[in-house]
Amino acid sequence: MSGEIGVCHIGAGSIGALRAAAVAKTPGLKLVVISDIRLEAAQALASKFGCDAIADWKSAVARPDVDMVIVSTPPSLHADMAIAAIEHGKHVLCEKPLAHTLEDAERMCEAAEKKGVLLKTGFNHRYFESMAFAKQLITSGRIGKVLTVNAYAGHPGGKEFGPAWVTDGAVTGGGSLVDNGIHIMDLTRFFLGDVEMGKGYVANLVWPFEKAEDNSFALFSTADGAKAYVHASWTDPRGYLFSMEVFGTKGYVIASYPPMMAEWGETPEAGIRAKRHWNVFPMFQIKERAFSWRWTIINSFIKEMTDFAEGIRTGKPVEPTGRDGLRTMQMAHAIYRSSKEGNEIKV
Ligand SMILES: NC(=O)c1ccc[n+]([C@@H]2O[C@H](COP(=O)([O-])OP(=O)(O)OC[C@H]3O[C@@H](n4cnc5c(N)ncnc54)[C@H](O)[C@@H]3O)[C@@H](O)[C@H]2O)c1
Repeated sequence: MSGEIGVCHIGAGSIGALRAAAVAKTPGLKLVVISDIRLEAAQALASKFGCDAIADWKSAVARPDVDMVIVSTPPSLHADMAIAAIEHGKHVLCEKPLAHTLEDAERMCEAAEKKGVLLKTGFNHRYFESMAFAKQLITSGRIGKVLTVNAYAGHPGGKEFGPAWVTDGAVTGGGSLVDNGIHIMDLTRFFLGDVEMGKGYVANLVWPFEKAEDNSFALFSTADGAKAYVHASWTDPRGYLFSMEVFGTKGYVIASYPPMMAEWGETPEAGIRAKRHWNVFPMFQIKERAFSWRWTIINSFIKEMTDFAEGIRTGKPVEPTGRDGLRTMQMAHAIYRSSKEGNEIKV
């Protein structure tokens, strides 16, 4: 397609506000309507960005001036909204986790494939500067073949849980593993390739939620024997942070946020210490300090949407796709089963 891509955004909550701001700044995208069941929230956002507001998402996704729909609502609503949009021939960018059940996520992928439209999962952490830098080191071959990944994501819980539904497993499909953990499982696949087997534990060590663990510990193995350790926590007193340590045959890279930072090293052969280097992304640090963490998130959304817009124009799927979103959910579900049954589970 040519010309501007009309965007319908469903959800005017905390992520919706940041995504709407990102759409407004993404070249080639035009925000045409914001939908939220809380009409006043949709109207407040719409007046800021000069578009329509409507409570009924079904009529919003049907509009002929909409080419792309962004779904930023609680996960149990994702499938119905995304599938309706897809059936109207719209391309969909859906927030993580892709859905609250594997069945819903599969239905979303199948619907998009059948209709021939693009479905992208909102794994915006791939677009963080440190993560993109790590990916580029890996794909350039500078750290050799990736052997192991050590992934961590944490926050303290409490006020940092955000909306109440976040700790309701019936809405999200789980706890820490499908919340902050889903980003680092996606990054694990991004850096290591797809995983085959998983084993792990989930536990409620502090917060007494019934179907939403506050800590999850997972081990994954690829078909050719590479290994990953993934820990997602809702009990980290240090605040929100995540880090990915990637070790290869010829070096390593550690990418983290916050602060946005990457450390890496190269070695001529196994057994020789690598010389350590750091990248502190100085321009980035200045902007984040001036405009807060929101700038960082919006920046990642702009890059993600620029990629998606290019995919829509060329008709080529843009990773992470819906299927990538489904694979990370399958990783989480393998760990939930493993924790219950005590076995290693095929992902
Ligand atoms: N990418 C990230 O890093 C990141 C971070 C946080 C949250 N998220 C994801 O973003 C999504 C939204 O999270 P949030 O924190 O903005 O939640 P939120 O609760 O702040 O916002 C959700 C919005 O959806 C609206 N809504 C609920 N039911 C609706 C309906 N039937 N029709 C229309 N609107 C409806 C609510 O009124 C609310 O405004 C979730 O999938 C969440 O997992 C992603």
